[in-house]
Amino acid sequence: MSAVLVVHGGAWAIPDDMAQASVEGVKAAACEGFAALKAGGSALDAVEAAVRELEENTVFNAGQGAALNVVGEVALDSIIMDGRTLACGAVSSVKNVAHPVSLARAVMEKTVHVMLTETGANLFAESIGVVTVPTDALVTKFEREDWNKQKSYDTEVMDGFNSQWAHDTVGAVAVDCAGNVACATSTGGIRNMMVGRVGDSPVIGCGGYADNLSGAVSCTGHGESILKVTLARLIISHIEQGKSVEEASRLSLKYMGDRVKGAGGAIVVSPSGQWSASFTTARMAWAAVEDGVLWYGLEPNERKREQ
Ligand code: GLY
Repeated sequence: MSAVLVVHGGAWAIPDDMAQASVEGVKAAACEGFAALKAGGSALDAVEAAVRELEENTVFNAGQGAALNVVGEVALDSIIMDGRTLACGAVSSVKNVAHPVSLARAVMEKTVHVMLTETGANLFAESIGVVTVPTDALVTKFEREDWNKQKSYDTEVMDGFNSQWAHDTVGAVAVDCAGNVACATSTGGIRNMMVGRVGDSPVIGCGGYADNLSGAVSCTGHGESILKVTLARLIISHIEQGKSVEEASRLSLKYMGDRVKGAGGAIVVSPSGQWSASFTTARMAWAAVEDGVLWYGLEPNERKREQ
């Protein structure tokens, strides 16, 4: 079977002046992740490589360019999961690590735990020699300026996560040639969130889930809504009941909208190589590589092929 990798750069009302950079960013990350697969890497290696690329791109709310919380600090969350064994690692409220997704992978591979938070995550990072960066190194001029303009938490996110301030999350899912699936998600959370707030992204079954028996999912959108419906696991459970990856995503996002008025998006891949990119926000930049062909989109129902 052929390998597939899908990435997203967050479901929100991406403004026109960020649209092109968002699309170029997800395309580059999809190619980076797929290159890892082509080089013989596992699905896990591929999703980590893709998300590292997205974390480095300041157009996205993850790693460099993360949203600032109410006191003007970054607080990064990430998860990674291996569908072969259900092994999972996550970090939350990390402040000075450029690649939270790799720290999440280290939690999975080097500890007996699933999630480490804040000081504990930083102490662990130090103990395994992860290079830390000054917190301000992750803050962009754009984010600091926007944060200075908008000092209150935007409650409109509850009605659709379609605010221009939302600026959400990155993620990747992959299936490798052996049929193994993996997911990874990384975020700076929501601007002006409370100190200590943890969203969906690092929570297993919410920001992501991967199981070789059904598929891999990475979610984006309003974290509190995603947490309430355990969105990633909800999508997986529809797949387990025989739905296609596309239908499972559509039903689950609709349920989140109907039940808690939350909007968001999800990318999904199945062990047989079916994949989808769905969202209920105004836009979501996504890209996929399948059989060496690059697909991408931004608007609802848009699926373009790189020429
Ligand atoms: N979806 C990211 C967050 O709400 O934190």
